[in-house]
Amino acid sequence: MSQQRINRRWLYVQRPAHESTAEHYQLDETTPAPTPADGELLIQAVWFSVDPYMRIQQSSFRTWEAPHPLNTVQGGGVVGVVVESRSPAFAPGDYVSAYTGWQLYATVAASAVRKLNPKDAPIEYSLGVLGMPGRTAYFGLLDAGKPKAGETVVVSAASGAVGLLVAQIAKIQKCRVVGIAGGQEKCNYLKSLGLDEVIDYKALPRSKDDVDYDAILAALKQACPQGVDIYFDNVGGTTTDAVFNLINLRARVIICGQITQYNGKLDSVEMGPRFLHRLIYTRATIQGILARDYVDRMDEMLPVMIDWLNSGKLKYEQTVVDGFEQLPSALNALFHGKNVGKMLVRA
Ligand SMILES: NC(=O)c1ccc[n+]([C@@H]2O[C@H](COP(=O)([O-])OP(=O)(O)OC[C@H]3O[C@@H](n4cnc5c(N)ncnc54)[C@H](OP(=O)(O)O)[C@@H]3O)[C@@H](O)[C@H]2O)c1
Repeated sequence: MSQQRINRRWLYVQRPAHESTAEHYQLDETTPAPTPADGELLIQAVWFSVDPYMRIQQSSFRTWEAPHPLNTVQGGGVVGVVVESRSPAFAPGDYVSAYTGWQLYATVAASAVRKLNPKDAPIEYSLGVLGMPGRTAYFGLLDAGKPKAGETVVVSAASGAVGLLVAQIAKIQKCRVVGIAGGQEKCNYLKSLGLDEVIDYKALPRSKDDVDYDAILAALKQACPQGVDIYFDNVGGTTTDAVFNLINLRARVIICGQITQYNGKLDSVEMGPRFLHRLIYTRATIQGILARDYVDRMDEMLPVMIDWLNSGKLKYEQTVVDGFEQLPSALNALFHGKNVGKMLVRA
């Protein structure tokens, strides 16, 4: 019976001023697992997603939704196994992807989950290449970026969950791809995937708490002799400031993420160079993208991504941290570049 199961829950209890660490959470191990109502499932989480957006939601202002409320379970995507079903569409043992956050057990409406078939792909791929990050990369690049063969595409955080996919999809589109990542090992890996140029921003001088503007600009000029047609921005900060010097006629700048800003800078505006005048001469566009806008187009993406994975055109990487208790530190590790590809926590 579910009443005999004791839940484990990471409650988000304090807004961080800078990095988010375990002190901003409380581990509750005293609450019984909930009981499903009609039409609901009780699921036990097997895989947890950790994503940079979680840090955005910990800020105190409204983004695409209200700030994450304090003293509630940290939200997030999971893959779970059904342990009790009060829906005819699911049976115990079925795997589902759900948004039930950092807790071991949760009840969820059957209509709010996606059933996973382990024969199609490893179940945890639904949190990465076949889920939200995959959708962001696929539609962000193809729908918003509209790449054409031969164009130069620059991708920041190129070795991460989204960036690694963007870089490879851009290569599949026959673009010239320049990846920016932290560390020689990551850059070597990106080169092995066929990227045309890589920039190790961590090998460049720093200024304040970001890569030095002149240094990243010089590296970008060298890597992009024909300028930049698409900039897929995952980081913001001085890297993005520098890219604007190189944008071509009708370039597309896709603002996917601004991870340099999430640890405290969202709440206090930081001014960078004023580059919007460049949009006049180039008639370039800047577009923000949001994964949720493409949820209804998953059926369009999944067969293509699965085909690329099966044919080896697309390599997929995951960094797995073991242990429910590691969730807060795994989230913060994203901000120190500890991952290659999708960061996951295994329960
Ligand atoms: N718009 C949307 O709907 C949407 C959806 C998903 C993700 N995103 C955004 O896309 C970006 C990537 O997300 P992800 O899930 O794929 O994460 P990720 O890239 O797997 O992990 C974050 C990476 O960012 C890099 N990074 C961390 N701090 C940095 C800094 N100060 N300067 C430069 N690079 C830094 C690290 O790589 P290095 O070792 O290279 O530093 C780290 O591995 C994030 O900004 C995220 O918010 C947006």
